[in-house]
Amino acid sequence: MKCKILLVLFLAGILSSAGEQDGGEDGGSPRHDLIKLSLIWPNTYCLTDHDCRRTVPQYFIINSLWAEMDNGEKVKNCATPYNMTDVKMDGHKVDLLKFWPDLSTYNYQNSKKTWKEKWETDGSCCSDLMQPENYLAKAMSLRQSHNMYQILTDGGVLANGSSYTTNKILGAIRKGTRTLVDIVCDTDRVGNVYLSEIHQCLDGRGKGFVDCQNIAVNCDRDPIFPDSLFTGRATQAARKAARNASLA
Ligand SMILES: *[C@@H]1O[C@H](CO)[C@@H](O)[C@H](O)[C@H]1NC(C)=O
Ligand SMILES: *[C@@H]1O[C@H](CO)[C@@H](O)[C@H](O)[C@H]1NC(C)=O
Ligand SMILES: *[C@@H]1O[C@H](CO)[C@@H](O)[C@H](O)[C@H]1NC(C)=O
Repeated sequence: MKCKILLVLFLAGILSSAGEQDGGEDGGSPRHDLIKLSLIWPNTYCLTDHDCRRTVPQYFIINSLWAEMDNGEKVKNCATPYNMTDVKMDGHKVDLLKFWPDLSTYNYQNSKKTWKEKWETDGSCCSDLMQPENYLAKAMSLRQSHNMYQILTDGGVLANGSSYTTNKILGAIRKGTRTLVDIVCDTDRVGNVYLSEIHQCLDGRGKGFVDCQNIAVNCDRDPIFPDSLFTGRATQAARKAARNASLA
């Protein structure tokens, strides 16, 4: 009899802790193992079929900050009681426009949908760690902790339209940040492969940088690190493809 009661209590314990792990439905954030900061290289974004304004920053900008499981699965669209409001974005206006711009527009009002969407998709799943205004501030302070453009330049990886081995790129960043990152490539419509994103990993509490897997995703060939499409020497083919894309 005593045993049975203990067993029931034991099972109840398992059930309630399992319930806590996918707490997304009752408003808490579900479990995740790490937080990732994703940075993008604006020139690549514009060369690969995205709408872009006339000029874009020549430094890495924030794509997003999201929660992830150890198996690489992104945790998305969590229920959260917190909303991204105008007032919360206004408090970070200057830095948002500089480090987390919407590359399709210069207009602040029109850009707000970007940060709202990032909160709803990605930030909501970090909402046990940070609320909307902290989410923005956190992403920007993490972005400020490394100058990836300089780190790559120092490692001999120049944004001059040449291609580099993924090992050289990963190695340069490892040297400059003293942690392992992941990189992502993207391909334009004529098959040029470009360096697109850098992912930096943080522990599950989002407190400090930890090693990522040191992998290159979608890099079927040594990626090009493109210079500015409109003012630089981006390859002829890439220029043409981008022009076609913007006419389409
Ligand atoms: C967040 O937005 C939703 C939908 O607009 C609204 O129903 C809810 O009351 C808002 N929550 C807070 C805390 O303001
Ligand atoms: C780009 O820079 C690298 C490293 O300095 C150099 O080897 C390469 O020739 C340069 N490419 C162009 C197109 O200038
Ligand atoms: C651009 O479009 C023209 C005509 O529509 C086509 O002939 C050409 O192959 C396209 N170029 C690229 C690089 O996609």
